[in-house]
Amino acid sequence: MSLASLAVIANSGTLTERLGALHTRLLETVPMVDRIACALYEAKDDQLKTFINSTRTGEAIAGYEASLSNSHALSQLAQSGDFRVLDDIASAIHSDTAHSQWLKAQGYQSSFTVPLFDHGRLLGFIFFDSCQRAAFTPQVQRDLVLYTSLISMMISSEIATIRAMIESTKLARELTELRDFETGAHLDRMARYSRLIARAIAPLHGLNDEFVEGVYLFAPMHDIGKIGIPDRILLKPGRLDPEERVIMDSHVAKGVEIIERIIGKEGDRHFPESELLRNIVQCHHEMLDGSGYPQGLSGEAIPIEARVVAVADIFDALTAHRPYKQEWSLDDAFAELHRLSAQGKLDADCVNALVNQRAAVEDIHARYTDSQPDHAVRA
Ligand SMILES: [Fe+2]
Ligand SMILES: [Fe+2]
Repeated sequence: MSLASLAVIANSGTLTERLGALHTRLLETVPMVDRIACALYEAKDDQLKTFINSTRTGEAIAGYEASLSNSHALSQLAQSGDFRVLDDIASAIHSDTAHSQWLKAQGYQSSFTVPLFDHGRLLGFIFFDSCQRAAFTPQVQRDLVLYTSLISMMISSEIATIRAMIESTKLARELTELRDFETGAHLDRMARYSRLIARAIAPLHGLNDEFVEGVYLFAPMHDIGKIGIPDRILLKPGRLDPEERVIMDSHVAKGVEIIERIIGKEGDRHFPESELLRNIVQCHHEMLDGSGYPQGLSGEAIPIEARVVAVADIFDALTAHRPYKQEWSLDDAFAELHRLSAQGKLDADCVNALVNQRAAVEDIHARYTDSQPDHAVRA
């Protein structure tokens, strides 16, 4: 197998598809690798999160998150940059975290773990697992080096693309008369609410962690089109008249335009996740009963990522302080979400997913607070 053919695999499809294709190739030379998984590290929260996996034997684990500092072994790898070989997992792992228990239950006997770095920053880890004992001999480790660097390149270039997109939208926002039309805290919170919801409904909709992370990363861009709305409307304290409302609602179309300028109309080919981003920007005001805008889509025609973001966005708008309104209690806001889902406007699964995770919601609400609430504008 040539390097060129591997490079082709590493360049097409979603990350999950690409990892699966690389795994197929890898099995030709190293048949004992039963699972390849990558976890992503988020330094801000010290969290390590399941991200993409290719699992041939055993049951895939998804939606798992733990703080890196709780794992002594992985923290050491992150610091030293070394890899770790476990020849006998059962005797090497003594912790009883949900992850360790899951690992043992899968029947994996040995593993090979490599930390991933991007410009010196920890990006995450790649885990290779095998149902054979002591599968990762020095010879096998050498064979895996190429795959490790391909996977690392794949992930870091994807993340660099996403970061560049986020940066350019931030820049676009700053350049527009240096206006702060959404507080950073609103975006922090609604992205995290979106992730809570996406993770909870993932099994229902057959969504993977890559999708969940995409929703989390892109949710804050839902209102990027507001940079095209004049201040007199965006910051107006009172009710909007019908003409102003039309201009305000055009933030959706403007947002789609901005996204297309950034990723290019052909963006999907190089960047499959761009569809996720576009759907969030384009459909976050659509309602299940067709009463939303701009297209009046209904039911299943509204992409699930947009239904998730709509619930998170409305919930945060209700529970946040805004200059023109009091903040609602969590209970009142939950009741309102239930009312909107009973009316057929919001997705009931998404609403329940949020309401059922009250402790996590309270934590997010308390942790990410607005330092300058006066900058916030209408939802
Ligand atoms: Fe919006
Ligand atoms: Fe918002």
